[in-house]
Amino acid sequence: MSRVLVTRRPPGRALEMLAAAHEVDLWDGPGEMPRDELLARLSGVEGLYCMLTDRIDARVIGTPGLRAISQMAVGVDNVDLESIRSAGIPLGHTPDVLTDATADLAVALLLAGARRLAEGVDHVRADAWGPWEPELLLGAEVSGSTVGIVGFGRIGEAVARRMTGFGCRLLVASRSPKPDLEEAVGAERVSFEELLAAADHVVLTVPLSDETRGLMDADALGRMQRTAGLVNVARGPVVDTDALVAALAADGIAYAALDVTDPEPMRADHPLVADPRCTILPHLGSSTTGTRAAMAELAAENLLAALSGRPMVARIA
Ligand code: DGY
Repeated sequence: MSRVLVTRRPPGRALEMLAAAHEVDLWDGPGEMPRDELLARLSGVEGLYCMLTDRIDARVIGTPGLRAISQMAVGVDNVDLESIRSAGIPLGHTPDVLTDATADLAVALLLAGARRLAEGVDHVRADAWGPWEPELLLGAEVSGSTVGIVGFGRIGEAVARRMTGFGCRLLVASRSPKPDLEEAVGAERVSFEELLAAADHVVLTVPLSDETRGLMDADALGRMQRTAGLVNVARGPVVDTDALVAALAADGIAYAALDVTDPEPMRADHPLVADPRCTILPHLGSSTTGTRAAMAELAAENLLAALSGRPMVARIA
């Protein structure tokens, strides 16, 4: 039996699974586990079950006796991967189980941004709804439009498959070519610049890394069509927030629809929140009951496997 620290109550059966085999110390809120609590409670911990909001740096990774880290998320940009690798500690994550939910939300955001759903809802809530108007809240076409998907991993592919149902032309820009997959979904591989120039809707699905931080900067936003929109289901810092504020203010793009922001959380007084052409959700990509339970349980399986000397189901480092 090992000591396991869980930094936030996970949904589903994850806690039961861990507690059946190990001594579990749970941070049960309120909110995320404060950094000083995390550091104070690490002593003697062999397995760490963490969230994407925890900073897993060299100090955490260097905990004497720590044998495995498992994160309840697919993205691990909060983890110092260099330190993990040099410590030789396995790091688990939760791919696949959240692909569909996240791709569904990307499509929802694309539709919401293009068709101005939030503005429509606000219009009704403000009791501004009058007789039918021929030009009320005109939006952008989705059916038959050109959708540019940046990053062609599992989520990018799942977004592409969904958009074929809307009869869209699909462009993808990604680091490594996947000719078979591109052909299977009917997507055309182009350069990032070509994608920006041609897409009516640009969907970001890349992981956050040194390479992708600030990818959508003023230059990239300036390459988009004025009528085009930007959807981000990746990580907030993939977009340069100030450049996005400026692009919307200058009518450089038509809309932004973001599930992730920089900073995150984004406060209500931020100019992007006030901008009616920007739809912002509080990082809900994987937020369905079934998906979150599946993520939590996969993260538990990863930790249980590593602590008993077996390979993790999904190990990223
Ligand atoms: C992840 O898993 O990385 C998502 O951002 C949260 O579901």
